[in-house]
Amino acid sequence: MIKSNYIKSLLQKTKQNLKTIVLPEGEDERVLTAAHIIAEEKAAKIIILGKVAEMTAFFAKNNWNTDGIEFIEPEKSPRLGEYTELLYELRKEKGLTHEDAEKLALNYNYFGTLMIKSGHADGMVSGANHSTADTVRPALQIIKSAKKGHSASSFFIMLSDNKPYIFSDCGIIINPTDKELCDIALDAAETAIQFGIEPNVAMLSFSTKGSGKGDEVEKVKRATALAKEALQSDEYKNLGIKLDGELQADAALDSVVAAKKAPNSEVAGKARVLIFPNLEAGNICYKMLQRLGGCEAYGPILQGLNAPVNDLSRGCFAEDVVGAIAITCLQATK
Ligand SMILES: CC(C)(COP(=O)(O)OP(=O)(O)OC[C@H]1O[C@@H](n2cnc3c(N)ncnc32)[C@H](O)[C@@H]1OP(=O)(O)O)[C@@H](O)C(=O)NCCC(=O)NCCS
Repeated sequence: MIKSNYIKSLLQKTKQNLKTIVLPEGEDERVLTAAHIIAEEKAAKIIILGKVAEMTAFFAKNNWNTDGIEFIEPEKSPRLGEYTELLYELRKEKGLTHEDAEKLALNYNYFGTLMIKSGHADGMVSGANHSTADTVRPALQIIKSAKKGHSASSFFIMLSDNKPYIFSDCGIIINPTDKELCDIALDAAETAIQFGIEPNVAMLSFSTKGSGKGDEVEKVKRATALAKEALQSDEYKNLGIKLDGELQADAALDSVVAAKKAPNSEVAGKARVLIFPNLEAGNICYKMLQRLGGCEAYGPILQGLNAPVNDLSRGCFAEDVVGAIAITCLQATK
């Protein structure tokens, strides 16, 4: 049923430590189909939010077993009051009234996020019918960044001829500051380690080692310097992370070009983690590779949060949802 060998390999890993993932879009057949695949594979425990009668009817119509799946209708949940109070307590200082909290807790993305915050789920996958902003905002407000002063960002796992690369940030921070770009690179390096990908990080630009000039190049240089400094700290120094910049994409990926443009770089020609200078570059690049370059793309996956919440593209297929669930389970296994 699953075509991607990479997703199959991730599912083998998730079976070793079953996580509970909440899917707030039970009205979507792709989401229900993905839940069925995951349940059949016994790869995770699934909670689906939606109209229970409609969801169970869809499963019955397809002769699908519902073992390993819990259906919850937030409006009828005995925990709605508990989640409303939690939301109110967490956000009242931000101006949220009790009345607003009552309404917001009924938004399924908020309800799912509050389940995670309460320890009733390990992660969430949504976005088949919601914008990235609507999917991730509850997570940014409620789950919060794992490290103080450190922005959450996102990554894609891009598969080129079955070889995985991490692309970041292609989904969240529109125009990162030097510090945010540094944080994106450090988090993406840790993400690579988590997924068994070599943490060879290239800070991408239209310039390689001073070949081009401009404010944009200077920003990447400053972020590279900040990240290199951070890599000397106790937190990072033993993780085996290699990072260099500024590099053009060809110098980052092609050893022949690297030998000419950046002969002294330990990352050039061997990069597996590509850090984009802004969201425009990252988002356009991943979509071009997916549509014209024959790459598989999984994401955007959030990184740097206290618990995983992940977004789907509205054009996704059921198999993409399966992939996002598998990745979310692995992120929850820290
Ligand atoms: C992610 C995004 C929606 C956040 O925007 P927003 O909701 O308007 O953010 P706000 O500035 O109002 O912040 C809302 C909360 O999230 C927090 N937040 C925002 N961005 C954050 C980040 N990157 N990391 C951690 N927290 C963040 C804010 O601190 C704020 O918290 P608070 O309310 O507790 O103070 C916005 O950055 C965005 O639209 N990004 C582009 C998404 C996109 O279109 N992607 C392309 C398709 S994949």
